[in-house]
Amino acid sequence: MAVNEALRRQYLQYMGITSWQKRSVVPTDTPREVVAELVEVSETVEADAAAVVPDVHKLDWPALTESILSCRRCELHSKRKQAVVGVGDHNADWMFVGEAPGAEEDRQGEPFVGPAGKLLNAMLFALGLKRADVYIANVLKCRPPQNRDPQANEVEQCEPYLLRQIELIQPHVIVALGRHAAHSLLKTDKALNKMRGEKMLYHDIPTVVTYHPAYLLRNPADKAKAWQDLCLAKGIVEVS
Ligand code: URA
Repeated sequence: MAVNEALRRQYLQYMGITSWQKRSVVPTDTPREVVAELVEVSETVEADAAAVVPDVHKLDWPALTESILSCRRCELHSKRKQAVVGVGDHNADWMFVGEAPGAEEDRQGEPFVGPAGKLLNAMLFALGLKRADVYIANVLKCRPPQNRDPQANEVEQCEPYLLRQIELIQPHVIVALGRHAAHSLLKTDKALNKMRGEKMLYHDIPTVVTYHPAYLLRNPADKAKAWQDLCLAKGIVEVS
């Protein structure tokens, strides 16, 4: 079964529709106004189905990926080139969570491939890791215009996808890159400096908060503190 068809069936099942029939052919003598109305109703039903996020906790990777790529739950979908699902090992010990795709990520469909991504790669290298060894994702899967901060409703609509990714991967440590990732995961509005430097918990998964690589590019003096945070995370993985 094609992924789209599988997903459509899942949507219908989650909506409580367990049996369906192919749409009957409209008789040729049906008045034009009635046909127009039928088309409008069927288009609305299809649009509503696309806006529904099924219970993501039941989605496997292919269905989750398809669900993210076709998501229209918030307005960001209308401006994106593509949604950015995430990249890396689905069984990784390490998971890195950023804020949202930027222009380059929106173009390439992969998180952290712009300047901040180059620094993230260097941070991974210093830890003895490659991108393929870890999983990298963002809180928002679509690029906010002009890279503005994520809005609360966008986080709320998109969050189930990240949570399902974490649930499927079950990483030994999550590294929250920047305050947006930390606030979204840890449900707090504390300042980043009040969260970094200690082990936090996201649903029993050890979580370390550190600076966002884009911030570190502007404030290189804080790289030493980010390195301490990464060493804390490495220590957690080593004993897990
Ligand atoms: N910044 C992020 O938070 N995520 C990306 O994917 C790229 C830049």
